[in-house]
Amino acid sequence: MTSSSSDFTLFPPEIAGALLQAGARVSRLCRTPVYRPIVESTNDVAAALAAEDPGDGILVLADQQTAGRGRRGHTWFSPPASGLYVSAVVTPLRARVDPARALALVTLTAGVALAEAIESACGLRVELKWPNDLYVGRRKIGGILAESTGSRSVVIGYGINVSAAAFPPELRNIATSIELELGRSVDRTPVLVESVAALDKRYGDLLDAQYDAILDAWRSRSPSSLGTGVEWSTPAGPQSGVTAGVDEQGALLVRTGTGIERIIAGELRWEL
Ligand code: BTN
Repeated sequence: MTSSSSDFTLFPPEIAGALLQAGARVSRLCRTPVYRPIVESTNDVAAALAAEDPGDGILVLADQQTAGRGRRGHTWFSPPASGLYVSAVVTPLRARVDPARALALVTLTAGVALAEAIESACGLRVELKWPNDLYVGRRKIGGILAESTGSRSVVIGYGINVSAAAFPPELRNIATSIELELGRSVDRTPVLVESVAALDKRYGDLLDAQYDAILDAWRSRSPSSLGTGVEWSTPAGPQSGVTAGVDEQGALLVRTGTGIERIIAGELRWEL
């Protein structure tokens, strides 16, 4: 990537330099990079920009979010100088083969990419919990909120806890950070660069219809997707079963007393 193709001038210099140096590894997702010190939600900024500028390559990075959003109406703890809060705009329906499958697999693809990124940036093994939570042991270290913009694009928003040493009481037993896991301080910039590069690469695999490779990588990082007890609510009352893998569209399969249920959305309670 040349400096004329992506403008990082409003970025903190250290981050701008690292992204520029990453060059082609991040170029597809950094066509229009945007840095904001503080936003309500990077996903909202990215969606507003995507409405004006369809296509891949809007990337929004913030140092802090005042109304960071998680899945299913949860908030995402987003203090300054602590985590990564990033939203990337992608258009999976451009995939060469079976675009509907690319759309169905976009969040699993992002999960694989981010787990690979954390591992390559700092050597920390990260597992995935369906559909797209990043875990180390029993604690969540990152999450993904993919939202359709109403046109052909999707905003992939992700948060990774890098420092976040002072989680609020309600998160203390369920969240962790890279620094807490490694027991040392960690620079956010290389984690950011690796996360964008890994997402760029795995999104390329998605566009090339490398669906089985993506699913194999996802399955190898998700021991909980096979043989774990789960419970969920239905209009008819609570249901439960044991996970039986993910299918080719990324749905979670759960063996119940009456057969295999195919879960595509919803809040699960895990036995783990
Ligand atoms: C979850 O696990 O519930 C998803 C968390 C997603 C958080 C990220 S932080 C950047 C982007 N902007 C948001 O408001 N949310 C996502």
